[in-house]
Amino acid sequence: MPATIVVGTQWGDEGKGKFTDLFAKEMSMVVRYQGGHNAGHTLVVDGESFALQLVPSGVLYDHIVPVIGNGVVVDPVVLLAEVDMLTAKGVDCSRLRVSGNAHLILPYHQEIDALTERYLGKNKLGTTKRGIGPSYADKSTRVGIRVQDLLDPKIFREKLEAVLEDKNQVLTRVYNRLPFDVDELAETYLGEVRDRMVPYVTDTVGLVHEALEAGQHVLFEGAQATFLDLDHGTYPFVTSSSPTAGGACTGAGVGPRHIDRVVGIAKAYITRVGAGPFVTELPEGDPVGDHLVDVGHEYGTNTGRRRRPGWFDAVMMRQAVRVNSLSEIALTKLDVLDQLDEVSVCVAYDVDGERHETLPYHQSDLHRATPICETLPGWKTDLTAMTEPGDLPVEARNYLDFLEDQVRCPISLVGVGPGREQFIHRTAS
Ligand code: IMP
Repeated sequence: MPATIVVGTQWGDEGKGKFTDLFAKEMSMVVRYQGGHNAGHTLVVDGESFALQLVPSGVLYDHIVPVIGNGVVVDPVVLLAEVDMLTAKGVDCSRLRVSGNAHLILPYHQEIDALTERYLGKNKLGTTKRGIGPSYADKSTRVGIRVQDLLDPKIFREKLEAVLEDKNQVLTRVYNRLPFDVDELAETYLGEVRDRMVPYVTDTVGLVHEALEAGQHVLFEGAQATFLDLDHGTYPFVTSSSPTAGGACTGAGVGPRHIDRVVGIAKAYITRVGAGPFVTELPEGDPVGDHLVDVGHEYGTNTGRRRRPGWFDAVMMRQAVRVNSLSEIALTKLDVLDQLDEVSVCVAYDVDGERHETLPYHQSDLHRATPICETLPGWKTDLTAMTEPGDLPVEARNYLDFLEDQVRCPISLVGVGPGREQFIHRTAS
């Protein structure tokens, strides 16, 4: 399939990196299409762990061109530090390409992100404080500075001067902070940062289309996930970009007719970091919730925050199947459920005594919804060494069949451990 999108179907941290990495073998190009260094992919290759934030995971393969598309927001200092980290581990980053149209994250974005959060008080979103929202906001209000502006120092400086006029007013008068100095920022970003960024900057839309026209396989790698999408997520508790499959089209510059396959990555349970409604959440102190966090190592790759755990939510997943037009699901971390006596699945919501099988469109309903769960027997077996569908105990097979039936989409792959080889290719039932 020449063009494949990999998209998270829950609130992120589904383990997208593992399957992106698996598909990468067949790909010539891997393109990130949205988000920034709020993302964190952890890949375990030959026992070594790679924590990637910005560089597409395909970088670990010599035959792949890793591309950062126009829909991404790029902190060049973070990107270069990641390149240095990878280079030190022996990974060649010279093939990396960055869209000239991607917007930059600059230090004032990060400061504004942290300040805005502080002043939201109890309504705060729990952002990653990486400057993601403020950078996308500048893009929308058309005062953003793009990667290509680094190529023209005069333009970069002019834009920086103009935008700092406004940002410094806000920082000093509203937030009582120190202003940013144009000369200081210009010196940093037009010096070593610029020199090191220039070789990577290009027209990535052209690059992607040349690859597709040559019949090469291109993977579009989403960060975050469906329910963190600015339009389709649990607004305002969302990120500021479009992780859903449609975001790949705008964020990489390909039309929908180019897309052949959309793989939704779902965890066998759910986690969420930061604030926002979570219908199947297991309250703090719940032994099963603690078990999922401990066994699943559910702490943020980037921020170290404990993720909120909960049961698999088929209502959300049905919505994810729709909004992304998923062709299939890759289910991760099934092994995390290995020791449980029973596993639950939320099949519908109860909102004020009414049963909902599809996601209520009104956010207040979502806040009041309680899960209607079905409970299945656990398998109490270690799945981590299993490689064939036939190896799975009947209870685990029943669980997968039940999920498929509930969400009406085939589960083609199942992850049974963190390693590159720990997965089962499953024939769709
Ligand atoms: P932001 O993307 O930093 O603006 O954060 C907005 C919301 O998205 C917060 O609730 C974050 O915790 C969440 N978020 C952002 N990136 C990720 C991710 O990669 N995984 C999970 N949650 C994320």
